[in-house]
Amino acid sequence: MWQYLAATALLAEGALGQSLGSASFLRFGCSQLVVERVDPLVAPGLNPSPHVHQVVGGNSFNVTMDPSTIDPPVQSTCTSCIYKEDTSNYWTASMYFQSPENGTFKRVPQMANGRLNGTLLPQDGGLTIYYMLPFGGRNMKVTAFPVGFRMLAGNPMLRSKTGMAPGICHRCLAKSDRTSGGAGAPCDRSDTATFPTTPCPGGIRATIIFPSCWDGKNVDSPDHQSHVAYAPGGMALAGDRCPSTHPVRIPQVMYEIMFDTTEFNDAKYWKDGKQPLVYSFGDPTGYGAHGDYLFGWKDDALQRAMDSMGKTCGSEYCDQVLTIQDGKDAIGCTKSQQAKEDVGSGEWITELPGGTQVA
Ligand SMILES: *[C@@H]1O[C@H](CO)[C@@H](O)[C@H](O)[C@H]1NC(C)=O
Ligand SMILES: *[C@@H]1O[C@H](CO)[C@@H](O)[C@H](O)[C@H]1NC(C)=O
Ligand SMILES: *[C@@H]1O[C@H](CO)[C@@H](O)[C@H](O)[C@H]1NC(C)=O
Repeated sequence: MWQYLAATALLAEGALGQSLGSASFLRFGCSQLVVERVDPLVAPGLNPSPHVHQVVGGNSFNVTMDPSTIDPPVQSTCTSCIYKEDTSNYWTASMYFQSPENGTFKRVPQMANGRLNGTLLPQDGGLTIYYMLPFGGRNMKVTAFPVGFRMLAGNPMLRSKTGMAPGICHRCLAKSDRTSGGAGAPCDRSDTATFPTTPCPGGIRATIIFPSCWDGKNVDSPDHQSHVAYAPGGMALAGDRCPSTHPVRIPQVMYEIMFDTTEFNDAKYWKDGKQPLVYSFGDPTGYGAHGDYLFGWKDDALQRAMDSMGKTCGSEYCDQVLTIQDGKDAIGCTKSQQAKEDVGSGEWITELPGGTQVA
């Protein structure tokens, strides 16, 4: 869990040279909606899609989510996120342990993220979602996403750092970080682009930071990326300087995913610099980590929340502007798989779902 104090310390080191307000982001938990091979952004209509995702948010999540036919706030009857107005969908790849002894796989369980002010969602984790104002720009205005907006951060094809987006990383958590979620700015020097190469006593926190600038026109693009952009300079958190091609400042979305790798910490699995983890799309490096976002806030709720930042909203406090539902109701919002299969959460599986090769 990102604490702004540590971020300020980073700024004091001269990274951006501006101070960060105490309430420049909205943060909340969303519990697991479904784990399955469905991807309405990259593989719409395909059931099953190529690789396993863990999905949170509104239960209108579906194999096809054409912006002209789907309206998540209308079609969802519940959301696994703590704010009732948020029926967006957020998803990432699942992580697997591959036994170096016999090559079989088991899905790495997720865990809840830190102290989410009683809104903690303990069962098989889910995601912690952030909507941030431009880093260092507490008083800046952002424009909430339009209906139908969606985007992708990261690139599943990557197996090296070349071409990697900023703001995608993994942190090897100390035992004590299991409760706090880990302090410090996201993707700072305690994080790595790759999977950690040693067992992590507190599990692994993966971070996905989305771009903060938009072209102001398109709700999507063929690669689901070119309608948005990171601010220039190779840093994810610098959205106060949007490029002229993408002049509109949007809330900067960030995911934190807590993977409970601790049952796989036996030293025999982590030998000679080799680590046993692999993403559901076959990536044994971690460079291909990515996240998918499909906007689905009711009416102008997100805009109102962002406009209230530093006033009535900040971090996990926004209940004067948004409607908080009981954590139990968020946890209770689940969906059965449309792509029905064993995703390796219980028994060992001999191959990754979909027969995805590790490479
Ligand atoms: C998903 O899409 C199918 C086919 O279009 C439809 O029958 C079903 O009602 C949808 N499910 C949800 C939850 O919207
Ligand atoms: C494969 O290895 C894992 C651990 O390395 C073990 O728990 C599992 O039982 C093994 N499966 C088979 C079929 O040997
Ligand atoms: C956080 O806790 C405070 C004090 O108990 C409460 O007023 C507020 O509604 C809580 N916020 C959330 C998001 O649960």
